[in-house]
Amino acid sequence: MEKHLKVSAIKDGTVIDHIPTKALFKVMKILQLEECLEMITFGNNLDSKAMGTKSIIKIANRFFADEEVNKIALVAPHAKLNTIRDYEVIEKRVVETPREIIGIINCFNPKCITNAETITTRFEVLSNKPITMKCLYCEKITNENEMVYS
Ligand code: CTP
Ligand code: ZN
Repeated sequence: MEKHLKVSAIKDGTVIDHIPTKALFKVMKILQLEECLEMITFGNNLDSKAMGTKSIIKIANRFFADEEVNKIALVAPHAKLNTIRDYEVIEKRVVETPREIIGIINCFNPKCITNAETITTRFEVLSNKPITMKCLYCEKITNENEMVYS
């Protein structure tokens, strides 16, 4: 039994748990947390039985819509979202890979217009495991191991 939480409990808000350690700052970027004025606490390289190490982010007074959190599926496919109200976990959600990805990832094709000009990338997700995405501009495929975050 743990003596105390590594990252303090919150009263109201969202706890994003089971984030891979290497994805912590990408998740923060995808959710635009640098612009969030609420209290944010996080832990990185925490011990996890299931994952070895993991990260956790706690955002006070913020509640996310499904389409907002699903964007993190690319980097944190096993993330669990806990909605906290008055210190109680009232809902647990898992993330689902969206069918379309806007921004976040660069197109793998160096000749793609999105790499030459400041155009936001758009991909259709063709498969989930491993992730395969088709660029809507050049139609080339970007695979999971080729993904570069913009
Ligand atoms: N939590 C929190 N503040 C609260 C309640 C819960 O920060 N007021 C956090 C817990 O520290 C935990 C997560 O929310 O990281 C989920 O809480 P809980 O469901 O109680 O934990 P577990 O059963 O361990 O969750 P899991 O479903 O991941 O096994
Ligand atoms: Zn492209």
